Parts: sequence; C-alpha cells; structure tokens
Amino acid sequence: MSEFVWWKHGVIYQIYPRSFRDSNSDGVGDIRGITDSIDYIAELGVDAIWISPVNKSPMLDFGYDIEDYREIDPLFGTMDDFLDLMKQCHDRNIRVIMDLVVNHTSDRHNWFLESRSSRNNPKRDWYIWHPGSGTRPPNRWKSAFGGSAWEFDERTGEYYLHSFLKEQPDLNWRNPELKKAVFDMMSFWLDLGVDGFRLDVVNWFIKDKKLRDNPVTMRPFHPERHKYDRNRPEVHDLLREMRVMTDRYRDRMLVGEVFTLIPGDPELSARFIGNGMDQLHMAFDFSIIYRFWSARGFYRALKKWYRAIPAGGWPAIVLSNHDQPRGRSRYLGPPGSDARARVASVFLLTVRGTPFLYYGEELGMKNARLRKSDIVDPLGHKFWPIYKGRDLSRGPMPWDGSENGGFSPVNPWLPADPDCENISVLKQSSDPYSMLTMHRRIISLRKQYRELSMGDFIPVLKGWRGIIAYYRKYGSDTSFIALNFTASEKKIDLNHRGQWRVLFSTHRTSYKFFTDLKFRLHPNEAIIVKRIGDM
Ligand code: GLC
Repeated sequence: MSEFVWWKHGVIYQIYPRSFRDSNSDGVGDIRGITDSIDYIAELGVDAIWISPVNKSPMLDFGYDIEDYREIDPLFGTMDDFLDLMKQCHDRNIRVIMDLVVNHTSDRHNWFLESRSSRNNPKRDWYIWHPGSGTRPPNRWKSAFGGSAWEFDERTGEYYLHSFLKEQPDLNWRNPELKKAVFDMMSFWLDLGVDGFRLDVVNWFIKDKKLRDNPVTMRPFHPERHKYDRNRPEVHDLLREMRVMTDRYRDRMLVGEVFTLIPGDPELSARFIGNGMDQLHMAFDFSIIYRFWSARGFYRALKKWYRAIPAGGWPAIVLSNHDQPRGRSRYLGPPGSDARARVASVFLLTVRGTPFLYYGEELGMKNARLRKSDIVDPLGHKFWPIYKGRDLSRGPMPWDGSENGGFSPVNPWLPADPDCENISVLKQSSDPYSMLTMHRRIISLRKQYRELSMGDFIPVLKGWRGIIAYYRKYGSDTSFIALNFTASEKKIDLNHRGQWRVLFSTHRTSYKFFTDLKFRLHPNEAIIVKRIGDM
C-alpha cells in the first residue's frame, strides 16, 4: 500500500495574503500576519499553504504583476519575514507553496525595461514583440482583461503582447535564455526550502510562433476559440523539463492553473499532468467551480475529471479561489443558511483528490458586499455593474468581534463584512456545530482514517434525486459518504451488510450506529460513516 504523500493526501490551504491578517496596521494583510496566525492554520490541520504572490510588484493586478521575482514586496514584509514564516510552517510539518507567475511580468521588471529599450537589446526576445500590420496590431488576439492583447510601444515602433493588463507583458518562453532565467529563479526559491509552486495560467505560457488569429466561434461571450494564443502543444515539452528540474529536489510539487472559460475543460487540464508523472504533479480543472448547485452537475463534472486523469496521475479538487465568487454565495439556498456550503465542503474534503481550501471557506465566508467605490480589481472597474470583478472573494478574514473583524485596526483595503463577527474564528472556535469545527473535524478524520484521504473512490449514488454517495476504501477500511443536495429528506437503503458508525454528520452527533446502510438523510445532510464490522 502506498505511503502518505503530502501533496496527494493532505489538504492545501490557499491564503490571499492581502486579506488574511494585517500585522503592521496599514490595512493590508502581510506575511507576519500569516506567521502570527500559524497556530490557527496548524489547528485547522492543513498540510500545506499556498500563498498568492508576495513578490515585489506595483500591484496593478494585486501581485500577479511581478517586478522582481527574488524580492518580497515591502507591503508584505521582508525576506526575513518570509523565511521565518517558512520555518514556523516547517516546524509544524506544514509545507509552503508559492505562486509562480511567469506567463508575464510587470512592465517594471528589469527584463522588460531592457527589452523595450531597443530592438537589438539582448533581452528584446524575452518578450513577444512584433510590428503592426499597417496601423493595426499584429493580429486580433484579445486580452483577458478586455481590448487588444497588443500594445504599441513608441520608442521602438513595435507592439508587445500582453494577455492581461498592458502593464503585464507576456514572456517569450521560446527563448532559451529566458527559460534558463526562470528556472534559475525557481531554484533560488527551492534552495531556500519552498515546497512547490502554483503555476499561474500555465496553459497560456506558449503562443503560436506565427501569431495566427484564433478561429471565430458563434458562442455568445466566447467569440474565439483559443487555439493559437493558449493551449499550445509545445508547453508540454517545457513542463517536462521543469519537472526534471523540480525533481532534483526532494518532495516538491507543481500545480498548474489551467485557465479555461465556462464550462471548464477537464481533458485539457489533465494534459498538463502528462502521463501522471512527467509534467505537473497536479492541475486545476474549474468545471465544478463553474457548476450551479446540483448533485447531478457536481457528480458529472467530477466523473469527467476523474476519467481524464491518466493512470499514475492525481486530481486536485477546488471549489473556491481568489478569482471566483465564494462558494457560499454561489450556492445560494435559504437566506442566511450555510447548509449547502457545508455539503460542498464535505464533498471537497472526502472525494478522491487533493482538496484546495480557500481562506475563509472553512468559516462559510460570503462574497464581500461592495459598493462601486470600494472596487479595486481592474476587471471590476472595467465591467461594473455587469461583472463586479474579483474583489468579492477577497474580503478580510474575520478573526473576532473587534474592529474590522480583528483583521486590522485601521480601515482595510477592502471593507470588512458588517456582520463578520458572527462567522469569526473566535465565535466559531467555541461552537461545536460551527463550519470551522466541522472543517477541523473532517480534516482530522482524514488523518485518522486513511481511506478518506488515500482510499479508492467507489460511487454508489450518482447525483440522481439530489444525492451523491460513495465509498472510500483503503485496504480493509471502508467509509461511506452521502451528500443530500436537496431540502427534502431522502432514504438511503443500500443493504450493505454490517455495522456502521457515524464519524461525522452535519445534522447528528457522532457515535451513533447504523446496521446495514439503511437510514434517512436529513435535508441537506452530509454524513460520513465507517464500517466497523460484519454482522
Ligand atoms: C490568474 C490569477 C489571476 C490573475 C491572472 C493574471 O488567473 O489567478 O488572479 O489576475 O492569472 O496573472
């Protein structure tokens, strides 16, 4: 039987550092704020944290525009702060994953300053430059943040490519020197002890050599099929090289953000893990994030994701992140109720795959309530009110009942939720039935009963009538999980002989026993039972 592998069998907690905890009273979360919260993170029981970018940045895309990959931005602290955080984490057996944003840099990065300085600068080719066609850009590629993906640069009379803001020029991964510079930078952090990277928009790294226009589609909101500006096959050779480099270090992990539009594309995401062992360790597929609340929809998306994963590969499971509205708000349900969010979390933590838990998800945090004047995300600025941007899911973490939920004594960069006290860490910690207690409990059950993290996944009820149910089986240990997505009572009658003990339920106290798998599920109940013997 295989051994516990931290990135496969553990839980990874995503921290958006601006919003976690402010240690120096400037209204913005920082690295010391994370270190100060280390006991909280350890008690939650997660095995690793992934921290959104903390490198030096002008912050036009809140850190996803990096000016210096080897420095920590002063807003977040110093290199010593980062090293101290890493030590505190490692002392507690918690790994640290950094965000690796190398599809593009900031336009203030030295590489770009050199590249744009003249057409024959040695770093010219580190970015993607091209003359226009007449007075028009080289082709019709669009920036993900709206408008043309090309910006004309007067000094040298050529256009450069930017898949996001014009202040985020795209790197040219076809250039071997650029590749070496990025690999060296990755080694710099791996040598310091970083346990892995989350690769930002990994499927966008390489562009068509001939810069061909994308095929046009008739689909509303998706006018082009991203055949030439994303998802180029050459990226897989690059990832194989990156894997070889990373594997020179012990026990490190690469997980890629494969960014696709609704409804997600599991086959594409899976391609980024190659044969399961030769490219990224894991990749995100956002199909489930993009689903509305539906047992059938969740199950089908999960099944497609599992089917796409090659033998030897391993799925990442994600329901929330810093780019999408929070699950608790997406799933709706009765006003004020967190019943659906609880079912979703049990799903996240008990299906097969590595759960990525987004800060605040364990508290049932909702989308931030923001006025137009609160919006800082460039996407929100651009598309308000049709799309309010990504600030919604980036609100300050509610710690206690003090000012701004204890996040910061001064006005935070995004306003704290007026009733955040009710879902604060302090309040939930002492409540045996809170969302937080539930997360702590299930994460600890995953450690205690290995079938929940390492076991095979055997589906039984596949979303019909609003129920998903499955076994997790590891050696002779079997647990059974049932999730009621509906607001009505449901009967489970599986006639699976034996004695079963309730390990966890959103609705009943544990230490209850069932004989055979015959019981009634409460409305929106999620339950985990363990087989304790034959009759
Ligand atoms: C990814 C990040 C997002 C960022 C974009 C550009 O999608 O998750 O926050 O704006 O890449 O780096």
